[in-house]
Amino acid sequence: MKGIVLAGGLGTRLHPLTKVTNKHLLPVYDKPMIYYPIQTLVDAGITDILIVTGGNDAGDFLTLLGNGKEFGLEHLNYTYQEGEGGIAEALGLAAYFAGGDPVCVILGDNIIESSIRGAVEDFAKQKRGAKILLKEVSDPERFGVAELDGDRVVRIVEKPKTPLSHYAVTGVYLYDANVFEIIKTLRPSDRGELEITDVNNAYIDRGELTWNELEGWWTDAGTFPSLYRANELVARKKMS
Ligand code: DAU
Repeated sequence: MKGIVLAGGLGTRLHPLTKVTNKHLLPVYDKPMIYYPIQTLVDAGITDILIVTGGNDAGDFLTLLGNGKEFGLEHLNYTYQEGEGGIAEALGLAAYFAGGDPVCVILGDNIIESSIRGAVEDFAKQKRGAKILLKEVSDPERFGVAELDGDRVVRIVEKPKTPLSHYAVTGVYLYDANVFEIIKTLRPSDRGELEITDVNNAYIDRGELTWNELEGWWTDAGTFPSLYRANELVARKKMS
């Protein structure tokens, strides 16, 4: 399975911090943000990794990460997203890299406490379709939210005003190679982006979406409160 870290976009919700640098290069306690999702993939046994960068200072990713030696990697792959066309647009740029293999996608601003290896292994057995990781949160309206019927996800709604559950869709997605065909069929949402939620709903429509619950704590780091929380959570773990 191949790994893809999505670190494009402009990070405008963190202005002025992101006016001159890329969000994913900002510190989260003692490391740049991008270190955490890369480490999550490596800890899950995924070593063939593509980083989709974009926006400001994209060249700094290369200076910072090189070929990924710090993570025990021999090579890292890079590509560039122009503008902020959405998570699914950024993923679409990885089609050449996936080359027909299944992929484990992680958002560059997601910080995860525990290993995702179990979910990756479950998906390898699943053979086709998609798997998402859900986490119960107190503020689901900030995320994609899963509507459940028993154990089945029947719909995902992006940032609903009135969430139908407390299950947020985290930024870890496992897809078969059909994801790149699905992305080609998407239309931009009201916020002008190709939405990853539309990709996941397409897999629901095909009856091919499964989910696991993410263990341990999880946070994004794309707003001031969540960036602060990410720093606190990582610091507490490091000092415990
Ligand atoms: O963190 C999980 C949430 O991430 C999900 O629950 C939502 O369903 C999903 O849409 C996303 O929501 P956000 O609004 O928080 O996503 P954001 O625009 O902050 O982008 C998250 C990461 O995705 C960002 O750090 C880099 C990558 N990205 C984003 C955009 C818009 C790209 O690579 N390219 C892009 O154009």
